[in-house]
Amino acid sequence: MSHLPSPRTPDPRSGPALRWGILAPGAIARDFVTSLRTHTAQLPVAVGSRSLERARSFAAEFGIERAYGSYEELVQDDGLDVVYIAAPHSEHARLALLAIGAGKNVLVEKPLATTATEAAAIASAAREAGVFAMEAMWTRYLPQTDIVRQLLQGGDLGDIRIVTASFGGTASTDPADRINDPALGGGALLDLGVYPVSFAHLVLGAPERVTARGYATATGVDGQSALVLESGSAQALLHTTLFAAPPATAVIAGGTGTITVHPRFWEPAELTVARHGHELAHWKDESGLIGRGALGRSAVAAAIAIGEGRTEEPLHTLDDAIAVLGTIDEARRQLGTF
Ligand SMILES: NC(=O)c1ccc[n+]([C@@H]2O[C@H](COP(=O)([O-])OP(=O)(O)OC[C@H]3O[C@@H](n4cnc5c(N)ncnc54)[C@H](OP(=O)(O)O)[C@@H]3O)[C@@H](O)[C@H]2O)c1
Repeated sequence: MSHLPSPRTPDPRSGPALRWGILAPGAIARDFVTSLRTHTAQLPVAVGSRSLERARSFAAEFGIERAYGSYEELVQDDGLDVVYIAAPHSEHARLALLAIGAGKNVLVEKPLATTATEAAAIASAAREAGVFAMEAMWTRYLPQTDIVRQLLQGGDLGDIRIVTASFGGTASTDPADRINDPALGGGALLDLGVYPVSFAHLVLGAPERVTARGYATATGVDGQSALVLESGSAQALLHTTLFAAPPATAVIAGGTGTITVHPRFWEPAELTVARHGHELAHWKDESGLIGRGALGRSAVAAAIAIGEGRTEEPLHTLDDAIAVLGTIDEARRQLGTF
């Protein structure tokens, strides 16, 4: 293991140059479009907002040709290959169904929806319409994740026994902020916890048992939790919180080796492989796509899959995204915030 496999992640400028419609021009949509414009060949050509003024201002800022004052008008645009949905989580299912109903391919921000049931409705509608649908879980498309994938597939770590990961941040205390508002799918688990849960699912698959301990905020969303996910003799221990920023390290430990993905594991990062505490290999993402600059990698994966005539992206299928939400549903049920 002193030589790590090379990541097989596509060049961000590869893939067909698709015409993207941007639905809901909020904070993440800005970073997504910036990444597309800076690092990829993808073409944002239209934007739809609940306000024509906001759509026009976003379009002017990013050189986008068409601006619409409603999501309904955006999804009817015949000049789109795919719609990127960047509204709060609570709106994902409704808006994905709106776009799919108009015959559009969709890339939906994480989490795919607020519950596994909603996510399954998106999957059913997309499959029935024969259109592409995917959750923009960008971590799955980072080069480091492909190294992890290859090491797991090669059995280099032996039997995996332990996975640990955490994602927390000191969030706004404004009850109206989407992170605190139950009506907008607030809470740490859906917003931040989805990353450690998705990481554990990547390594161990869907767990046989979920145990969650934690507490809610005054607004009734999950504020902090620790999750134990059990799969056979493997355990994942995951933390998420709105009240602190623990180091966002992810660790996979097996009988013959350990991978540490250094903070912050969900974005372009470094990783170390060790055996019995001795470092064997170290890798750092030097692609030049740093932080949210790498958001476009999930768009490129979507574009390649769409170009190949697929309706799902094989590295992160709809069933994967539904299973992750199944785990979060169960955790929220145990926390009393479901
Ligand atoms: N991949 C990542 O790293 C990442 C990072 C942050 C967030 N996200 C995800 O992206 C999604 C949006 O997050 P954000 O931080 O960009 O949120 P945001 O800044 O609040 O933007 C969301 C946009 O959605 C629209 N919207 C539609 N219905 C709404 C409603 N009922 N209330 C408020 N806004 C509504 C608004 O645009 P108009 O009114 O102009 O249409 C708003 O600007 C979330 O699902 C989040 O999990 C992903």
